[in-house]
Amino acid sequence: MKAHPLIITIGMVTLTSSAQPALKEVFTNYFLIGTAVTESQIAGQNPIQTTLIKKHFNAITPENMMKWEGIHPRPDRFNFAPSDRFVEFGEKNGMFIIGHTLIWHEQTPKWVFEDGQGGSASRDLLLTRMSNHIHTVVGRYKGRIKGWDVVNEALNEDGTLRSTPWLNIIGEDYLVKAFEFAHAADPGAELYYNDYSLENEPKRNGAIALVKKLQSVGAKITAIGTQTHAKLDWPSPQLVDDTLTAFGKLGVKVMIAELDIDVMPAHSQNNSAEVSRREAAAPPMNPYRLGLPDSVQQALAARYGELFAVYLRHADKISRVTFWGVTDGDSWLNNWPIRGRTNHPLLFDRSGKTKPAFTNVIETVPRPKL
Ligand code: GLA
Repeated sequence: MKAHPLIITIGMVTLTSSAQPALKEVFTNYFLIGTAVTESQIAGQNPIQTTLIKKHFNAITPENMMKWEGIHPRPDRFNFAPSDRFVEFGEKNGMFIIGHTLIWHEQTPKWVFEDGQGGSASRDLLLTRMSNHIHTVVGRYKGRIKGWDVVNEALNEDGTLRSTPWLNIIGEDYLVKAFEFAHAADPGAELYYNDYSLENEPKRNGAIALVKKLQSVGAKITAIGTQTHAKLDWPSPQLVDDTLTAFGKLGVKVMIAELDIDVMPAHSQNNSAEVSRREAAAPPMNPYRLGLPDSVQQALAARYGELFAVYLRHADKISRVTFWGVTDGDSWLNNWPIRGRTNHPLLFDRSGKTKPAFTNVIETVPRPKL
C-alpha cells in the first residue's frame, strides 16, 4: 500500500511530515525570522549550519563583520570583502538584510576618538568621522541592505544616556546626527535603535524618551530593536508584554533583534580574565558540558514557548524576530561572560538538530479551527 504523508496545517502553512517545518514559513503571516551569521557560515565552511540558515531564516544580521573595528579598521582603510559576501549571500537567498551596527562604543577602534597627536578628537573631527563612516558603509550597500542598526546600546540601566566617547565628545545630539547621516546615505533604508534589557522599566522609559527626541526633530526612526539576550527567569512575559505595548504607542515597529536564552549559572561580578578562566574550569559554573538534563531542556522549551506566545499577541507591532546565532555551538554565550563554557541557548543543538524549544516555538502559532 502506498504511504500517504501526514498533512499538518500550522497557521496558513501546510507542511508534510516528511519535511520538518521551516521557521520562516510557520511565521510567514506574523513576522520575519532572522539569525545572526558569521563569515564561515556565509562561506559554507559548516554545511549543516549553512543549510539551516537557508531553510529556516528569511532575515540575516552580520554577527561581527560590519562592526566598526572589522569594516573600518584604520582611518583610510575599509575592509568590505566579508560584508560584500554577506550581502551577496542574503540576496542570493532572498533574505531581508540588516546592517549591524553603525555607531557603538564597543568594537570601535581607539583612533576614532583620538586626534592622532595624543589628544582626544574634537567634536568637529568626530562628527566628520561619523559622517564619513556612515556615508561610506551605508552608501556602499544602498538599496541592498534594507535596515540598519544605527546606534547600539546608548542607554544606561536607569534610562540615562551612557557615558561613551560619542556622548562625551559630540554631546547628546550625536544620536540625531547618526540617524540623519544614515537617512541621507540611503533614504530608503529602515533605521533602528538597538539595545539590551529594554524590558526593564527604567531603561525602557529611556528608550521611549530617546525615540521621542528623534521624532521631535524630524529624524527618521523605523523601529526599536530590543536585543532580548534572555535568561530562564528574565524577562517575564509580563515585562515583555508591557514593553511591546509601550513601544507600539510610539508609532515605530519593534524587532526582537538578538534573541537567545542563557541557561548557565550567573557569573560573579568579578569578570577579570583570570578569574573568568578559573570560574570556567569549575564545574559549578559550567554544568552542562555533556548535554542539557531533561528538566533544563524542558524549562528552556517552556521559556521559548512563553516568549513567542507574547510575540504573537503583539505581531501587529513586531516586524522581525532574530536569533543571535544558529546552533548552540556557534553562540557567543559559550564565551561570554566566561570563556569556554558549553551553553545551550538556541533552537538547534550542536549537531544542528531541533530541540524541544523548536517544537514549542512553532506550536505557539494558532491552528485554524476545524
Ligand atoms: C551585543 C551586540 C551584538 C553582539 C552581542 C554579543 O548585543 O549588539 O553585536 O556583540 O552583544 O554577540
